[in-house]
Amino acid sequence: MQTKNSINMKSYTFLLTLLLGLATGLQAQTVAISVDADADSTTISRHIYGHFAEHLGRSIYGGFYVGDTSDIPNREGIRMDVVEALKEIEIPNLRWPGGCFADTYHWMDGIGPQEDRPSILNVWWGNVKEDNSFGTHNFLNLCEMLDTEPYLSANVGSGTPQELADWIRYTTHPAGSSPMPDLRAENGREEPWDVKFWGIGNEAWGCGGNMRPEYYADLYRRFATFMTGWQNNELYRIASGASSGDYEWTEVLMKNIPKNLIEAIALHHYAVIDWGAKGPAVDFTENQYFITMKEALKMEELIEKHVAIMDEYDPNKRVDLLVDEWGGWYDVEPGTNPGFLYQQNTMRDAMLAGATLNIFNNHADRVKMANIAQAINVLQAVILTDEEKMLLTPTYHVFRMYVPHHDAQLIPLSFESPMYTFEGESLPAISASASRDEEGKVHFSLVNIDSKQSHEMELDVAALGLGSVTGEILTAETLQEHNTFENPDQVTPSGFDGAKMSNGKLRLTIPPFSLVVLEATK
Ligand code: AHR
Repeated sequence: MQTKNSINMKSYTFLLTLLLGLATGLQAQTVAISVDADADSTTISRHIYGHFAEHLGRSIYGGFYVGDTSDIPNREGIRMDVVEALKEIEIPNLRWPGGCFADTYHWMDGIGPQEDRPSILNVWWGNVKEDNSFGTHNFLNLCEMLDTEPYLSANVGSGTPQELADWIRYTTHPAGSSPMPDLRAENGREEPWDVKFWGIGNEAWGCGGNMRPEYYADLYRRFATFMTGWQNNELYRIASGASSGDYEWTEVLMKNIPKNLIEAIALHHYAVIDWGAKGPAVDFTENQYFITMKEALKMEELIEKHVAIMDEYDPNKRVDLLVDEWGGWYDVEPGTNPGFLYQQNTMRDAMLAGATLNIFNNHADRVKMANIAQAINVLQAVILTDEEKMLLTPTYHVFRMYVPHHDAQLIPLSFESPMYTFEGESLPAISASASRDEEGKVHFSLVNIDSKQSHEMELDVAALGLGSVTGEILTAETLQEHNTFENPDQVTPSGFDGAKMSNGKLRLTIPPFSLVVLEATK
């Protein structure tokens, strides 16, 4: 994916921005970063790097699934190019079938012979026909191809506890144990799948039923009661969580749902400028960039405040917090169906993803899963497709660069960030996280969201006993740069040799709107 030309271009851009920064006197004070080498061990769950695929626009149909009669190379109708690309970023879990769609979805519509499957209207997303040709078998087989864990989001808004209990039996119980697994076997799958993650409704406060938290908490208890795993196949039950800063929602759920019925509570937060005027995905102004980053960085405060409530009711941290929808949400690409939420993806999205993933890493003691919305062709996608063509977005590259953090041990960092100031308002310019992997390699992910100013950094890593360092950088000439089907490698990572280690100090200069991942060894 990385060409020699792209490396040269990126090195050139890096030098140019650095020189510009120096020449205009914009070089700020060195950011001193210290590491806590003795912190209690916290694993950064790989599930923080999870994804989401809804029956929405071209996410499933055209994105993941083209059908087995397509000319596009596929296995059982699943596009192999997207499977290969997603395997590269080691996606740990995939949430399906929604989103809002989940609370209209009756899973039995999507099993058995195609000619017997009913068509429905996808009322949330463009009122288009959903012919149910992609159903439970297709999704769970896709997860096996991807070597990823499925996360099934069940229908509470218009479904029943029986329907959910049947879905669990159908997917996870052995054939011969009851009628549902027998039906699965009749439909061609003898062995159960391994499905641990179960969402009990989605956005119950909105498209999932417009419920009050008290009502949803009771409904949750009822649904969870009838969910039965098979022997050691423990289920991980996820409550539909709050929208952004709705702390009352979290409080009522934590207070009213007994701890033996719940493993996790979710949170949704999108970085949106204004729901009435989201702004373009590509031709945005600096003002729009600034507001997007402000909304994205709110994630830190949201997590801290929701966790503070959870701590009150669950001081031993038995219940996890999952951010199972997050990302940037802009206007759809001109000329595309407004109900399909198809948007381009630029360096702004790379900044958003890098900074948000750093927040999740740094709160890994309670945040055990997150799902970017969404994997393909919808919102902040990692992959875009157009018929047989496919491209990897800047957000994809961030996920690839952060793979070393999966299941690694968090190394807490402390520093005071310089500020990125725009028209009198300021945001922290630098975001960072670090971890140590099984082989003892330490990875630092550093993001500078400042649109103009580079920053010198000095990391005091003496306590980690590190000797050498290599790195990669993701940057571009403008924040608006993005990959297109004609030029799919416009924004790609390149080698970064600007970090120097000496006397226990790691020094580098990070250019404006760039993301650097360093790998340091003894
Ligand atoms: O991701 C798109 C939509 O955003 C989801 O369907 C819904 O849960 C959220 O409001």
